[in-house]
Amino acid sequence: MSAVREETPLLRCDGITVRFGGVTAVDDVSLEVRPGEVVGLVGPNGSGKSTLLNVVSGLVGAAGSVRVDGAEVPLSKPGRITRHGVFRTYQTPQVDPGLTCLENVMVASRDRGRRTTASAWLRRRSMWARDRERWGEGAEALRRVGLLDRAHQPAAGLAYGERRHLEIARALMARPRLLLMDEPAAGLSSVETERLVELLEQVAELGGSLLLVEHKIAFLERLCGRIVVLQTGRRIAAGTPAEVWSHPEVISAYLGEAR
Ligand SMILES: Nc1ncnc2c1ncn2[C@@H]1O[C@H](COP(=O)(O)OP(=O)(O)O)[C@@H](O)[C@H]1O
Ligand SMILES: [Mg+2]
Repeated sequence: MSAVREETPLLRCDGITVRFGGVTAVDDVSLEVRPGEVVGLVGPNGSGKSTLLNVVSGLVGAAGSVRVDGAEVPLSKPGRITRHGVFRTYQTPQVDPGLTCLENVMVASRDRGRRTTASAWLRRRSMWARDRERWGEGAEALRRVGLLDRAHQPAAGLAYGERRHLEIARALMARPRLLLMDEPAAGLSSVETERLVELLEQVAELGGSLLLVEHKIAFLERLCGRIVVLQTGRRIAAGTPAEVWSHPEVISAYLGEAR
């Protein structure tokens, strides 16, 4: 007999509200991402998608609550949520152009080892072994995104789409349990978008969860089991891609935008 048990969501946002002056950018929005789930967050421009990701990453203050594995994460504390294995990519790829591709990936490594001189001396063998392992992981992350042959070249020489892939390699290096991505396919060619889809499929197969803000519908349908739709800050629909695209409020929200 299989026990039916409510799984604790990996991420749970409850009643999130954000106001900028007179504008309510996010209006009482709740959503959850379960372990291993890929969830799409869509909506016309200005509907509050980026602001919601900013709340989860602690960049913007809000009313409401954010929980990871049931534990409340304090709001307005940038970076705090990374302690829970939640990482974020941005609409413009955030890579350091002065570092090589491999260095860009390595700076994202979660190395909790102690680095005092005495402890380094006593533990140097294990430290070397760990360093070798980390560089190996860095190379593997670059291989996954197709940038291994550029490992020692400065990121400044990468094309836009390659920077996006490097940013993902960097996120993979941090071994995220949940990756929040803001329009990862924006500005990518169809070949680069296809590669991105394959990459994100691999992330999901490895057990990672994703919360994806994206406009490209084909992209979402390939990846997402569930989609949440926002309009002017409110959650207007949620369900499978087929369910949300046939939802009357979603149709009129998008028709409104196409005008
Ligand atoms: N820092 C800010 N200050 C003032 N208004 C903002 C700020 N960030 C976003 N907004 C407003 O909040 C609303 C939602 O924006 P945003 O979250 O960027 O939407 P989306 O990502 O869905 O396009 C918009 O009306 C936008 O103008
Ligand atoms: Mg946005």
